[in-house]
Amino acid sequence: MAVVTVATWLAPMNLAIVALFLFVGYWLLRPNRWRGNPPPGPSGWPVVGSMFQLGNRPEIFFNKMSERYGDVFSLNMGQKRVVVVNTYETLAEAIIEKGHIFADQPDLLSFKLDTAGNQHHGVSFARASDMQRKKIKVVRAALNPAIPEVAEKFNTIIASEVALLMQDVASEHGKPFDPHHVIEFCYVNIIGMLLYGKIFQQRDEEYFKWAATFARRLELGSYLIVDWFPWLAYITSAEVKELKGLVETMVAWHMKLLEEHRQTLNESSPRDFIDHLLIQQQTGKLMVSDTDICCVLDDLQTAGFDTATANTVWGIQLLVQNPDVQKKLQAEIDDVVGSGRAPTTKDRRNMPYLEATLWEIQRVGMILPIPGLRSTSSDTTLRGFDVPKDTILLINHAKIAMNPINFPQPQKFDPSRYLDENGVVVAPDKKIMLFGNGFRKCPGMQFAREAMFTVVANLLQRFTFQLPEGVTALPVGRTDGHVQYPVSYKITAILR
Ligand code: HEM
Repeated sequence: MAVVTVATWLAPMNLAIVALFLFVGYWLLRPNRWRGNPPPGPSGWPVVGSMFQLGNRPEIFFNKMSERYGDVFSLNMGQKRVVVVNTYETLAEAIIEKGHIFADQPDLLSFKLDTAGNQHHGVSFARASDMQRKKIKVVRAALNPAIPEVAEKFNTIIASEVALLMQDVASEHGKPFDPHHVIEFCYVNIIGMLLYGKIFQQRDEEYFKWAATFARRLELGSYLIVDWFPWLAYITSAEVKELKGLVETMVAWHMKLLEEHRQTLNESSPRDFIDHLLIQQQTGKLMVSDTDICCVLDDLQTAGFDTATANTVWGIQLLVQNPDVQKKLQAEIDDVVGSGRAPTTKDRRNMPYLEATLWEIQRVGMILPIPGLRSTSSDTTLRGFDVPKDTILLINHAKIAMNPINFPQPQKFDPSRYLDENGVVVAPDKKIMLFGNGFRKCPGMQFAREAMFTVVANLLQRFTFQLPEGVTALPVGRTDGHVQYPVSYKITAILR
C-alpha cells in the first residue's frame, strides 16, 4: 500500500489539483452575484455569506445592520440573495406599491420538506399563480366576518370554546399557573372547529400527541440550514428525516378527516371548512385535489392557532406588568357588557380601549419579528436600488414597530397611542402592517382579531391577573423561533 506523506501532498501536481478542486467548489457554491446598483450591506464570508451571523434571533443582527446601512440593505445567505426592509415606507413600497412583484415565494427546501413536497398545493408556501389566488379567495370568503353566516358561525364557535377556557382558568383556584397551555388549547379548538369540526378533549392523549408533533415540526422547520445550502440536505439527514416523518403524520391526519367528511357530507348544509372545500371540488367551482384541500387546511391551522396563542400569552404578561391598563379595560367591560352576560364579538365596536390595547399588545409583543418570506417575480427596484428577480424579501418588523417617529417612546406599553382625543381608534395598523398587506395579506386577520378580542374580554370580565404573592417581577425575555413567545411565566387569576 502506498504511503501518502506530506511531501507527496506538496508535490506541484497535487497542489494544482487541490487548487482546481477548491476553485471549482467555490465557483459552484459562490453566492449569486448582484447586478447594477444593489442595496448596501455586509459582504459576509466567502461561500456562506452572512448566514452564521444571523443566529436564532436574526432581528438582532438586522437591527445592527440597519443602523449601519439604513432602511434597506442586502445580504448573501449561502447561495441566495436577500434584501431586508427596516422602515414602514420601504415595506410599503415593496408589498403595496410593487406588491405584484414582491408576491412570490422563494423555492426553499424547507417549504418542500414542511409540505411533504406539496408546496404549491397549499396557499402559504405556494408561488404566486392564478391557482394560489383562487384558493386564497375561497379562504378569505370563508373567514370573512362581514358575511352574516360566517359571522354567526364564528360567534357560536368562539363563545363555546371561550366558556370552556373560563372553566379551565377558574380550576387553577387563584394559584400560580402558566396560562400558555390553556390558551393554546382554546385556540386550537376554535380553529379546529372552524376548519374540520373537531375538538380535542382537555388532557386527552390524542391532543398531547398532536400538540407535540406540531410543536416539534415548527421548531425543526424554523431553522433549516438547507434553505441556504440545498446541497447540504444530502449530508444533514437527521433533522430532515425527522421533519419528513412529522409532516407525514400530519398529512395522514388531514387525509383521514377529509375521508370521514366525504362519507358524511350534506351539500346543502356544510359543517366546516373541509365541507366547504369538498363542495367546491364536487361542483367543479374550484379544481382542487384532495392534496390541495389537505395542504390548505394545514396552512390555515399552522398560521392560525400559534399566532393567536402567542399574542394572548404576551397580552396577559403585559397586563400584569401594566395594572393601570388592566383596570381601565375592566372598567370598559363593566360599562359596556356588565357582569350579567359574556362579552361577544358584537361588543367589539363599543370597546375602543380594548381594541387599541390589542394592537399595542401585537406591537410590543411582536410575535413575528421576521414574518414570512417573499421573493421577486421579476427585476425591480427598492428605494432606487436594483433588486433582481428571485431575490428574497425579509421584513424586519421588530425594527418597524420600534420606530420612535411613528411610535414615540416605543418601549412604552401605551394603548392610548392608537386613540384620538375622542377615544376613537385611529388607523391602528397604518405604520406597521402586522398582518402584511397587498396580495399576500393575512386572510385570517379579522378572524384572529375577533377571537383574541373575545378571549381577552371574557378573561378580564371574570378575572384579575396579577403577580403571585412574593413575586416582584415576571421573567424578561423571549423565545427563539419564527413565532416568538415570552419566556414562560406564572401568574395568578383572581376571580372578580
Ligand atoms: C394574531 C394572529 C395573526 C398574525 C399576527 C398573522 C400575521 C400574518 C402575516 C404577517 C402574514 C404574511 C402576510 C404577507 O406576507 O404580506 C400572514 C399570512 C397568512 N396568514 Fe396570518 N396571522 C394571524 C392569524 C392568522 C389566522 C387565524 C389564520 C387562519 C385561520 C391565518 C392565515 C394566514 C395565511 C393562510 C397566510 C398566507 C397568505 C398568503 O400567502 O397568501 N393567519 N399572517
